[in-house]
Amino acid sequence: MKTILVTGGAGFIGSNFVRYMLQKYPDYRIINLDALTYAGNLENLVDIADCSNYIFLRTDIRDREKVNQVFSAYDINYVVNFAAESHVDRSIVEPEVFLTTNILGTQVLLDAAKKQWLIDPEDKYCKEYKSDVKFLQISTDEVYGNLGAEGMFTESTSLQPNSPYSASKASVDLVIRAYHKTFGLPVNITRCSNNYGPYQFPEKLIPLMINNCINDKELPVYGDGMQIRDWLHVADHCSAIDVVLHKGAYGEIYNIGGNNEKANVEIVKLIVKTLGKSENLIKYVKDRPGHDRRYAIDHTKITTELGWEPVYCFDQGLKDTIEWYINHKKWIMDIVSGSYITYYEKMYSHTYKKYFNNLRKG
Ligand code: NAD
Ligand code: DAU
Repeated sequence: MKTILVTGGAGFIGSNFVRYMLQKYPDYRIINLDALTYAGNLENLVDIADCSNYIFLRTDIRDREKVNQVFSAYDINYVVNFAAESHVDRSIVEPEVFLTTNILGTQVLLDAAKKQWLIDPEDKYCKEYKSDVKFLQISTDEVYGNLGAEGMFTESTSLQPNSPYSASKASVDLVIRAYHKTFGLPVNITRCSNNYGPYQFPEKLIPLMINNCINDKELPVYGDGMQIRDWLHVADHCSAIDVVLHKGAYGEIYNIGGNNEKANVEIVKLIVKTLGKSENLIKYVKDRPGHDRRYAIDHTKITTELGWEPVYCFDQGLKDTIEWYINHKKWIMDIVSGSYITYYEKMYSHTYKKYFNNLRKG
């Protein structure tokens, strides 16, 4: 039996991944380690909570003592690290937690894995590890920064992050590279484009717009709405991670994308149309500071070397996602009725504008 430590498994992609792995590999044991921040939600996993080969541990990845205990208690083969502060807008308002969780928290995991997996952890020259172990970091295409009208990110594109979020993800990618080069830690890094699908927290573009549209609330589009993202269904992301986990060559980075470039406003209009509402709900609001204009992923490497390809068609995937949110009103209500309200008001109200005006004045 293999044991996979999934961190951040109560979040959007992590919970989809836990479910995907339990279904595909019934003989694996999955340990879900999650601090349950505002973004972590055990409701995402109620259907599998009682599986005998699934364990949930409420732990902060920054807590070195507890993380070491987890590594000592379970014979872990693979770590898949989703745990992170993931929302760009929040990183603009409160950068510090992005640096402590995304960089230092990941370093705690790297240290624990190294200690547990090295054949001789006392020997600083030892680069020999137990067989069949790997640390897989879930990174993002945002580490590459901003593209012009042409071109795509490849794995050798230079790192030019523009938000505190993407800077934290790029920083830790470099730390992971260093752990591989210096200590020989068996690692992979995946850099994926924008995900959509079930269980995505309604602070992100697609679920926010679906929820607002269902409730006839304004649809706040940043700037001119012509920023471009490459969209990938979360199920395609899960299958790509599975492939890299099992077949990825140690030390390699793999881009993951959906061949699906869309302008934000195009997506918002599709949601409006699908829900039979009026485009008058769209409201162009002040742009996000440091907003990257375009991302596009070249995923040739994972496709040619590991045989992965996305299967979802965006139009159908978006329809399915809208339907999922319509059928999961309680899930979304439980979130929206809680602390998220305060967040929403802060982000889209005068206070938020004032916050950025003050920042600009220095
Ligand atoms: P999310 O915000 O939905 O979930 C993050 C999870 O991490 C939550 O369950 C939260 O409780 C947990 N967490 C946060 N801080 C923690 C800590 N200190 N200790 C333990 N757990 C902690 O995020 P997501 O959208 O599912 O993204 C998951 C990962 O994938 C992130 O690393 C993100 O950078 C990366 N990623 C996301 C996307 C996307 O489009 N959402 C695309 C590419 C890469
Ligand atoms: O590219 C991968 C990244 O995708 C991940 O690393 C991040 O974790 C994830 O949050 C996502 O980042 P984005 O900033 O691209 O996602 P978000 O859903 O916040 O925004 C998508 C686009 O929509 C972006 O151009 C900003 C715009 N937007 C977003 C919100 C929330 C709006 O116009 N209005 C909004 O209200």
